[in-house]
Amino acid sequence: MNKIYNFGAGPAVLPEQVLKQASEAVMNYNGHGMSILEMSHRSIPIVEMITETSQLVSDALNVPDNYKILFLQGGASLQFAMIPMNILRGNEVADYTDTGGWSAKAIKEAKRYGNIDVVCSSKETVYNHIPKVFDQSDTQQYLHITSNNTIYGTQWHEFPNANGFLVADMSSDIFSRPVNVNKFGVIYAGAQKNMGPAGVTLVIIREDLIGRTERDLPSMLDFAIHADKDSMFNTPPVFAIYVVNRTLHWLKELGGVNAMHKKNKIKAKLLYDEIEQNPMFKSPIAEEDRSLMNVPFIFTDGGDEQHFLDYCAQRGLITLKGHRSVGGFRASIYNAMPKAGVEVLVEAMRNYSK
Ligand SMILES: Cc1ncc(COP(=O)(O)O)c(C=O)c1O
Repeated sequence: MNKIYNFGAGPAVLPEQVLKQASEAVMNYNGHGMSILEMSHRSIPIVEMITETSQLVSDALNVPDNYKILFLQGGASLQFAMIPMNILRGNEVADYTDTGGWSAKAIKEAKRYGNIDVVCSSKETVYNHIPKVFDQSDTQQYLHITSNNTIYGTQWHEFPNANGFLVADMSSDIFSRPVNVNKFGVIYAGAQKNMGPAGVTLVIIREDLIGRTERDLPSMLDFAIHADKDSMFNTPPVFAIYVVNRTLHWLKELGGVNAMHKKNKIKAKLLYDEIEQNPMFKSPIAEEDRSLMNVPFIFTDGGDEQHFLDYCAQRGLITLKGHRSVGGFRASIYNAMPKAGVEVLVEAMRNYSK
């Protein structure tokens, strides 16, 4: 049987060694004679594991001391609301960039909690590029970006300068490249692409922003309470955090985000080169904004998409269907996708076109 390569956009491929360690922990966590699924989040081994995971996040991204690292629930989707709810006071202004479906969802939620200005949008061109020139509000508290647009396959390769500070949804490119955390007030990401399974959301937040709002928030939606309790206000998703822990160990062994960024560039180049050279396929995305994580491509002259998807599936290349809102194909090549997987895909594209 062919080896299976999962090009799904999320939940997505995880490193094989991480899956093995996770499955071992389900039976017997680190020799404690118990499944990790049964262990109290307040037991010493689990508290130590969560503390270590936080340290691994901090090491991987060089997070400065004046930031808090939180492991929350509710996905990146809850952060769309929780961030403006916690940061904006009354009718304060935040600027949002509209670069894809997830940005649009973030905007919709934020509008409930502040005065939201959409300062740019690439919607009219089906989100095929990242707008570079746009005005920002003088009174802006923050500028929100989606660092990588999972559905459309665009990525901010250079972050804009905000009048206030940046807030970024990094769900689909966290830990794929170095970032200067100092530029950001908040970075957030659902785990299920580059970190682990769904169920845990990473939030990296500058301490002075915690407790900034004057709203009376429900405890579960209050960063101040989660920060005060070190992400243990209620039962945290211990198993999901453990998988993040193992993934970050794996990242560290491979040389961290700098080494990973190099690997990601090599993988993406292989695939984009094939898309450019193969007369059967083309990219709908502006060249300078193409994502290193999610690579959409379409038939140059139309054709039977299902036939190509079946052809790939027979070779172990699965979950290549484009997002339902755009069609075509999309190969998600996150950190854990081996170069060999991209090579098999490129070979399949080449043979198919013959
Ligand atoms: C960029 C981006 N933001 C947000 C989300 C939503 O994340 P969640 O399902 O964790 O709420 C996704 C999910 O695919 C995403 O790709």
